[in-house]
Amino acid sequence: MFVSRAYVPESLRPADRRHWPYTVPAVAEVVEHGVEFTRPVTFLVGDNGSGKSTLVEAIAEGFKLDARGGRAARVFGNADPTKTPLGEVLRLETTSRGAAMLAGPRLRKKGFFLRAETAFGMTEAFGGVPGYWEEDTSRLSHGEGFLAVFRAMFRDPGFYVMDEPESALSFTACLQLVALMHELGESGAQVVCATHSPILASTPGADIIEVGEHGLRRTTWADLELVDHWRRYLNNPEAYLRHLTGA
Ligand SMILES: Nc1ncnc2c1ncn2[C@@H]1O[C@H](COP(=O)(O)OP(=O)(O)OP(=O)(O)O)[C@@H](O)[C@H]1O
Ligand SMILES: [Mg+2]
Repeated sequence: MFVSRAYVPESLRPADRRHWPYTVPAVAEVVEHGVEFTRPVTFLVGDNGSGKSTLVEAIAEGFKLDARGGRAARVFGNADPTKTPLGEVLRLETTSRGAAMLAGPRLRKKGFFLRAETAFGMTEAFGGVPGYWEEDTSRLSHGEGFLAVFRAMFRDPGFYVMDEPESALSFTACLQLVALMHELGESGAQVVCATHSPILASTPGADIIEVGEHGLRRTTWADLELVDHWRRYLNNPEAYLRHLTGA
């Protein structure tokens, strides 16, 4: 583990919180109480607009990760780490390993922030870079390219922040990502990941935080609203569809 908690120090809490991002309940809760990371793999699960990306972006910024971190940064140089409004005030409590990594030279930093959109761009842009990944990603499908990128970048135990990495993946590829996530957690890495995937969220041993109108709620896979919806939908799609189509 590298990061044990994200919080906003009292001195940085704005007096007037009637504007974005403070109006997002999940953000309001982090401002008031912070959020703890207790296991190597943590998933943030919640509806569209519940604040997952706002949180993971700020957490990535707090660890000075950008979307091209890790080895990519070494090859291509770091992008300008512009801060989001929440990133400006969010602070991370680190473990001694986390603190050592943050204080060390930039190139020794292991980890990166992966957004679904930029990961695909990376597979295209970096595909031909020798020694970066073994596969020539220009000859892989979208999902295959993704997995190649994941595998290559996750070799080092570092701090990985991800936003919907399942986007390009089929059911079976998602299962491979579960295995990879699990392996990362076991190998001393730490993952904080926003997801809509009930498959990804089922990674053994992971901590699950449900994000929504209520703010943040630690829960189990079986109790996730997302899992309940999928279960009911797959059992009986018509029950949902008749409300939508009137058929
Ligand atoms: N730059 C911004 N300025 C103002 N509001 C924003 C901005 N970015 C996001 N929001 C709003 O903040 C809320 C949370 O957005 P966020 O992108 O964090 O949600 P999310 O949980 O990641 O959703 P999704 O599952 O669709 O990715 C939404 O209501 C969104 O419209
Ligand atoms: Mg999002």
